[in-house]
Amino acid sequence: MTLIVLNFKTYRESTGQEAVRLAQICEDIARDYSVQMAVVPQVADISAISKTVKIPVFAQHVDGVGYGGFTGHITAASLKAAGASGSLINHSERRLKLAEIDASIVACRAAGMKMIVCTNNVATTRAAASLGPDYVAVEPPELIGSGIPVSKADPEVVTKSVEAVKRIAPNVEVLCGAGITHGEDLRAALELGSAGVLLASGIIKAKDQRKALEDLVTGVRK
Ligand code: G3P
Repeated sequence: MTLIVLNFKTYRESTGQEAVRLAQICEDIARDYSVQMAVVPQVADISAISKTVKIPVFAQHVDGVGYGGFTGHITAASLKAAGASGSLINHSERRLKLAEIDASIVACRAAGMKMIVCTNNVATTRAAASLGPDYVAVEPPELIGSGIPVSKADPEVVTKSVEAVKRIAPNVEVLCGAGITHGEDLRAALELGSAGVLLASGIIKAKDQRKALEDLVTGVRK
């Protein structure tokens, strides 16, 4: 089933009360159009959102540390307790070193959380897939926030990522992101072999977020 992951980032339109409201819209869309949606709010909003909606709530980042003497870190256990069921790791706007990515994956796995490791090209997709996350999401950084969809501007990064992951770790699913906004962008992404999309500004900054999501889901294969 196609997975649509909406990253709330730190946009004003998806912070605090607005984050809860947007998560409710995502839940409505998931129910009304029978699509699988996950929301990715800021950490401080996870608890309120997970008490309000039943769709999966992911964190934007998780550290590979456990209980103990660590300050300013985000543990998988605390995310789980707040109601998150997974986390992004290594988003382009929150890059990690390879060893840290591995530690974050291990921490998520130990907590029973799903992980989406973000990558910027085919080579890093290969490296991420070899660590065995649930998903790899390839997003060319130059297209992030551009409104120019990766599925049209750089289809090869998606098809080559899908091929590479199939060879290295066939159980890992590939998402793609950057500039995805409309149903046709999503449809193109699915035709390139991705299992879904990771997106943000096209929905969050839209005048009418619900309408923007309704447009997006027209691209889902039934
Ligand atoms: O995490 C999704 C993201 O980086 C893509 O952002 O605004 O291009 O959809 P956007």
